[in-house]
Amino acid sequence: MKKITIAIDGFSSTGKSTLAKQLAKELGYVYVDTGAMYRAITYFAMQKQLIKTDFFDKKSLTEVLPKIQLEFKFNADLGFAEMYLNDENVEKQIRTIEVSNFVSKVAEVSEVRSKLVEQQKEMGKNKAIVMDGRDIGTVVFPDAELKIFMTASAETRAQRRFDELQQKGDDVSYEDVLKNVVERDYIDTHREDSPLVIADDAIEIDNSYLNKEEQFAAVLDLVNDVVKTN
Ligand code: DC
Repeated sequence: MKKITIAIDGFSSTGKSTLAKQLAKELGYVYVDTGAMYRAITYFAMQKQLIKTDFFDKKSLTEVLPKIQLEFKFNADLGFAEMYLNDENVEKQIRTIEVSNFVSKVAEVSEVRSKLVEQQKEMGKNKAIVMDGRDIGTVVFPDAELKIFMTASAETRAQRRFDELQQKGDDVSYEDVLKNVVERDYIDTHREDSPLVIADDAIEIDNSYLNKEEQFAAVLDLVNDVVKTN
């Protein structure tokens, strides 16, 4: 069967990674969560005290970027790849609300974006990849054979994120999560470098009222159509 590139973009907490993981497993493709890469750089900046509330030393972060090594290592028990920052598994650390609060600011920095986009293009050079993020169909793989753009209402997304964080034992309020979702949407869609926009040839899926199974079946049909016609 012909191998293709699948780009999944959309707003935060629309279930991009769940769908991308399901697809990669079904198709035997590599899955890449590009948000994890932006999150790992944010975590690094926090550790080095380069970003705090009302403070962001962009210049120093830009200077140390060449020293930041990011790698995905496949965890066979979990069935997906985990993020390593300078050889340390940071999968848990990068999913906290603190990292979520700062990550959009780090993702605005052009030097950060170009470093990560270069790595992402390299990962996709043999196709057979499902990559999710914000600029995959527009910047990383503008020639992807299938582009999906996922949306859902901010309230639906905040509720999903809140449930996830609560399950992990994170002590957060729904209101704080909703505020974070709305703020990230604004920054992601208004930044100068590669703002979140829907690619002309992307297929939009609003999953506010779709369950995971229905959504997966619909997207798998799209994949099969694309594979047949390519
Ligand atoms: O998908 P996520 O919520 O883990 O992404 C975290 C942040 O990273 C999000 O606020 C926007 C940014 N991001 C980006 O700018 N470009 C990408 N390709 C992926 C994520």
